[in-house]
Amino acid sequence: MSDLPEIRPTNDMSAEERRRLVESMRPEDAETVPELHEVGVPDELRQAIETAMSRYPQIRSAALPALWAVQRHYGWCTPEGMRQAAAVMGVTPGYLESLATFYDLYRTTPVGRHQVLVCHNISCWMRGADDLLRAFCEAAGAGAQEADHGGVSSADGELFVSGFECLGACDIAPMASIDERYYGPLEAGDARTAVDQLRSGAEVLPDKALAKRQAAGGPEPEPDPRVSRAEAGPAAPQAEPRGRPEVTETRMLFRRVDEPGLASIDTYRRLGGYRSLERAFHDLEPEELLGVLEESGLRGRGGAGFSMGRKASFLPRGETSKYLCCNADESEPGTFKDRELMEKNPHQLIEGVAIAALAAGAGWGFVFIRGEYAEVADILDRAVAEAYEAGYLGENILGTGSRVEVVVHRGAGAYICGEETALLDSLEGKRGNPRLKPPFPAIEGLYGGPTLINNVETLSNVPHIVANGAEWFKGFGTEQSPGTKVVSVSGCVQRPGNYEVELGIPARELIHGLAGGPPEGREVKAWFPGGSSAPVLTAAELDLPYSFEAMADAGSMLGSGAIIVADDSISIPELALRTARFYHHESCGKCTPCREGTNWTVKMLERVMSGEATPMDLDIIASVQENIIGHCLCVLGDSMAMPVGSMVAKFRSEFEETIARARDAVPVHAAEPAVPLAPEPGGSGGEAEQPPVDVGSVGT
Ligand SMILES: Cc1cc2nc3c(=O)[nH]c(=O)nc-3n(C[C@H](O)[C@H](O)[C@H](O)COP(=O)(O)O)c2cc1C
Ligand code: SF4
Ligand code: FES
Repeated sequence: MSDLPEIRPTNDMSAEERRRLVESMRPEDAETVPELHEVGVPDELRQAIETAMSRYPQIRSAALPALWAVQRHYGWCTPEGMRQAAAVMGVTPGYLESLATFYDLYRTTPVGRHQVLVCHNISCWMRGADDLLRAFCEAAGAGAQEADHGGVSSADGELFVSGFECLGACDIAPMASIDERYYGPLEAGDARTAVDQLRSGAEVLPDKALAKRQAAGGPEPEPDPRVSRAEAGPAAPQAEPRGRPEVTETRMLFRRVDEPGLASIDTYRRLGGYRSLERAFHDLEPEELLGVLEESGLRGRGGAGFSMGRKASFLPRGETSKYLCCNADESEPGTFKDRELMEKNPHQLIEGVAIAALAAGAGWGFVFIRGEYAEVADILDRAVAEAYEAGYLGENILGTGSRVEVVVHRGAGAYICGEETALLDSLEGKRGNPRLKPPFPAIEGLYGGPTLINNVETLSNVPHIVANGAEWFKGFGTEQSPGTKVVSVSGCVQRPGNYEVELGIPARELIHGLAGGPPEGREVKAWFPGGSSAPVLTAAELDLPYSFEAMADAGSMLGSGAIIVADDSISIPELALRTARFYHHESCGKCTPCREGTNWTVKMLERVMSGEATPMDLDIIASVQENIIGHCLCVLGDSMAMPVGSMVAKFRSEFEETIARARDAVPVHAAEPAVPLAPEPGGSGGEAEQPPVDVGSVGT
């Protein structure tokens, strides 16, 4: 720093002095970046980080892979490991530390050698996750309380057990991720077996491993009589989607999903795969492709339901560097369709990514996959390598001179990174914070370039539309919701799973017909039609058509297409509390209504559950939700406010009964309701520990 000019932080600085001052403040300031020779990076670690750096147009994007490499090497993100990674990447250790502390899957303190993450989000909770977590803690000799709040390691350092948010496998609820592999449905008794197996080095719960049961290429399951094998897809353009005699699936994306070896390029090609890509690259101009996609009416399947073709057409034409990002973050509780689509048919997605990139003029495609889907990321990596080998990706696709590079990018555990602009920040190697819009990503997205962002299911539709045409696609579904939809159904149903149906079929057919309805003797009480962020509907609304427009007309939304069913054994106030806790945990904290509103809501719902609330507090809970909606930078705040608000509105008497029951159940002195909403002594300083007295001030 000695050669820096004397800096005078005043308005009369020259432009050069100002430039140098700013540079001296940047985190990559040369003095704080460790020199390679000072830190002695192990060869294997250095190689892993350098390989990651070489895969991106900008090396900062390798920050998350670099931290994964550190964690793999040392068992956790050690300060020494982060200094070494910082030296290789030419960034400050502080920069990497700021990432390691943001993402839930990085460990910044030593933890047990084997990691057990037990999902305690709503679908797993409804099916016994609390007992499962306790059983794992008991078996490991770890405290359940700590496991539920950030995780705990066993005394012998062998195990780390943690309660975790939805892991995208509610079809096998209750479930756990053990050393990055998924297991379920689990019973409390499985915990002891799994812990013993981990300690002895034996294979863990072989009959409960998701990968074993669902491995693409594994044994074909019994034919399911409920499935109509609609002859849709690139291989069969003459689909006949109409005229279902009984409740059936209409499979297009899931067609032949259980074909052994479908995840391999040979099988995929044998079944007609990559013909759409050949057609797109050889016979169609990008404008024609855009026209077909727009004409098909395909709506985004990630949540907002925006027209895919229109969004692609917003990207400016011309020679600028453009990007495509496939959103495979899939963290909305109740949603697990993208996981199965990628796990079983990864080439369908890769084909869609390459065609959509061609249509949008993007030279790079990134698949941003949630960090927990380690097994699926491996499947995708293999499939991408096969596609490169076959000439479907890379510099000169099929000899046409067109270039599309595809990188599978693994996140690290942050729901907010599913929000498209937070995803972009994360992909650029930053903490995942939503950006202010406009500018929208189509104009200014990844690395500042125009970027098309679409969900896995949206892009998986693309090869089918290119093969069969827009009119064919519109023959499925409703006028405003064309096509099929893979719907994840979970919670209190007898056959949780993904079902692909034409949009517009009655929701009852999905919940009762395909998913088998609630267990014997139980009734549907409430259901989320579009993941846990959708306002709940009741049993009286089961006959509504399952389409974007009908769900919106009913005051809810189709969202990501994930139905979570609560039967009459489920406490709605507790469901509201679990829902609120999730969004509170995931709030990035950037805006006040979301950061404070989710906190207040959790605290107020805890008072409902403990009997400390008064019925008046229910009005305040409702009012807080109203003041969050529409007042935040992104819709994460609304994602809590909408379902919680709907539960209070539709099940108010149950909230009142819960308060009364809880109050009756505790000794008189403890049950005295506090003066509603008065501050409690000893709140934790800066954090807003108390609900607001003036509800009107929220979000203003
Ligand atoms: C908090 C939040 C989380 C989101 N999570 C996801 C997600 O996991 N997957 C996804 O595809 N879209 C998610 N979205 C929606 C994306 O922002 C974006 O709309 C979508 O990826 C666009 O793709 P589509 O048009 O194909 O649906 C999320 C949005 C918000 C506000
Ligand atoms: S709404 Fe919540 S998650 Fe979204 S930017 Fe604001 S604080 Fe962050
Ligand atoms: S995997 Fe447990 S709620 Fe989704």
